[in-house]
Amino acid sequence: MQNSIIKEFMNKTKLSNMGMSGRKDGIPRPDFEQNPEGEFDKIALPIADSSSFPSMDVVEAIEKRKSIRDYASITMSINELSLLLWCTQGVKRIVPNAVAFRNVPSAGARNAFETFLLINNVDGLESGLYKYVALEHALLKLDINKNLAEKFTLACDEQKQVKNSNVTFIWTAVPDRMTWSYAERSYRYLFLDAGHVCQNLYLVAEKLNLGVCAIGHYDDDTMNSMLNIDGETQFTIYIATVGKAE
Ligand SMILES: Cc1cc2nc3c(=O)[nH]c(=O)nc-3n(C[C@H](O)[C@H](O)[C@H](O)COP(=O)(O)O)c2cc1C
Repeated sequence: MQNSIIKEFMNKTKLSNMGMSGRKDGIPRPDFEQNPEGEFDKIALPIADSSSFPSMDVVEAIEKRKSIRDYASITMSINELSLLLWCTQGVKRIVPNAVAFRNVPSAGARNAFETFLLINNVDGLESGLYKYVALEHALLKLDINKNLAEKFTLACDEQKQVKNSNVTFIWTAVPDRMTWSYAERSYRYLFLDAGHVCQNLYLVAEKLNLGVCAIGHYDDDTMNSMLNIDGETQFTIYIATVGKAE
């Protein structure tokens, strides 16, 4: 292995090197969800209902899936957005004071992600930055600034699918939720978990005849500052654009 940082990371995060976790140390369990502080309008989402869309076999969805970067300027419905959010981060069962299971697998069910949305063209929603409140299946309207799409596109090195998307998902990690169980090993699990989330987005998008493109190429500091997160206790981990396939 060429890079000493990678070698050190892999060595120090081996199971045999895992230190004491917060859970074993008796530290209280972090909350299931972190929302930005402040007063924001909350918008209830319709219950995600897959039956109103054409059925699709899961193998067909897997085989058809590909990354799509060119989108038609057709408005996305709120029902489509609701289903995308439900399949990627929806909370399906809560064991009070213990665990919140979501529609994606997660190491130890720690589910350490938050979902921010750059909304450009969704029926009934002003364009701007939103945050998904998974525990309530609702949106917080964070910022309605006309230049946001351009700024997020620039932060992704001018990848035009961001500004042309109906919606761009920006997933952030809250590492405390994972380190509480897995100490040094937790960052491995964060990156593995992120893959499951985006894959669910790709697959449910097939059912809705939408196109998705995963984005790992973004400026971390710019992205974090636009989301008003500090980059340590919460940081951008993965991005994906969604649009109506042309
Ligand atoms: C972790 C990851 C990061 C990616 N980052 C980008 C990106 O920044 N920009 C982009 O256009 N595609 C990105 N992609 C999409 C890949 O280029 C794409 O999956 C790959 O070329 C295979 O094509 P397919 O998805 O159509 O099968 C990314 C994919 C993954 C899994």
